[in-house]
Amino acid sequence: MFTAFWRHCETTGQQKARPLINDPLAGRLVEAFLPQATQAALRSDAAFDVARNLLACRTKFIDDATVDWYAQLQRSSKAQAVAAQVVILGAGMDTRAYRLLRGQPVTWMEVDTSLKTLAWKRELLRTMDADAGGTIGQPTVVCIESDLARAPDVVRAADDARQWLPALLGHSPEFADAFDAARPTLFILEGLLEYLEPSTHAAIFAAVAGQGMGNGGGGRQRREQASENGIVLQNLEPSFGETFNRQGRLPYQRLVTAAEQVVVVVRRRRRRRRRRRREREREQLY
Ligand SMILES: C[S@@+](CC[C@H](N)C(=O)[O-])C[C@H]1O[C@@H](n2cnc3c(N)ncnc32)[C@H](O)[C@@H]1O
Repeated sequence: MFTAFWRHCETTGQQKARPLINDPLAGRLVEAFLPQATQAALRSDAAFDVARNLLACRTKFIDDATVDWYAQLQRSSKAQAVAAQVVILGAGMDTRAYRLLRGQPVTWMEVDTSLKTLAWKRELLRTMDADAGGTIGQPTVVCIESDLARAPDVVRAADDARQWLPALLGHSPEFADAFDAARPTLFILEGLLEYLEPSTHAAIFAAVAGQGMGNGGGGRQRREQASENGIVLQNLEPSFGETFNRQGRLPYQRLVTAAEQVVVVVRRRRRRRRRRRREREREQLY
């Protein structure tokens, strides 16, 4: 909910001449959920400017990346409207499904640990929208409950990379009904990775990349489809999160750097190469 608060503050621009983002729905969530006293405390906090600026920058970056990704799809296809999917991992109070790509045939899938919270947000925004004369429309938003920390176990348990994402999302009927691996897909990870171990990051990336394999077809077809998929993510600078941890303000359990993630990915690649070499050697023996 705090993320919605800082987006609301940036949007209403009370402290800024030119707000970087426009997320009016964040204000609706805050109004419905965050007590006035908590809002006042957050506003007078010493870290207020930093938090609001951080949220503004990452929201702007990911909003632009999402719109650019879809525009690129439209340019590369002959159709004006491209049926696409956006999967938001750790969606929380993200309002993109209700703000961006309106009127386009895009299916939004929101994943978080609590289905109740996602469904509550969906109902609240839809009801408020209807009451206000329907300006946000009725986007297709599928809510999925999953603990993404299970990613390493999921990847270890199956050989077929295409199974990793469905397994990670608990083989949920919502995901099975909505997700089409043949459609271009964008994955968004915002404000999520800092809650998860580096090994979990690598496993989530592997599960996402596994979807790029598509639904059969030749290698070239698969490569073309994979190139239409995208991932946009944000990770916190450790120093920022550590400051928050020292002050005991936010529950950052583990903060990782981009460098750590690269090390994990490289280690995985090396392990895979070693395994393949051993398999080849075994084949030669028999
Ligand atoms: C700081 S909030 C960010 C929410 C949203 N992406 C945004 O930027 O407004 C972190 C979100 O990640 C979710 N999250 C944390 N750990 C998770 C896990 N293991 N699996 C799924 N979601 C998780 C939390 O429930 C929360 O909604």
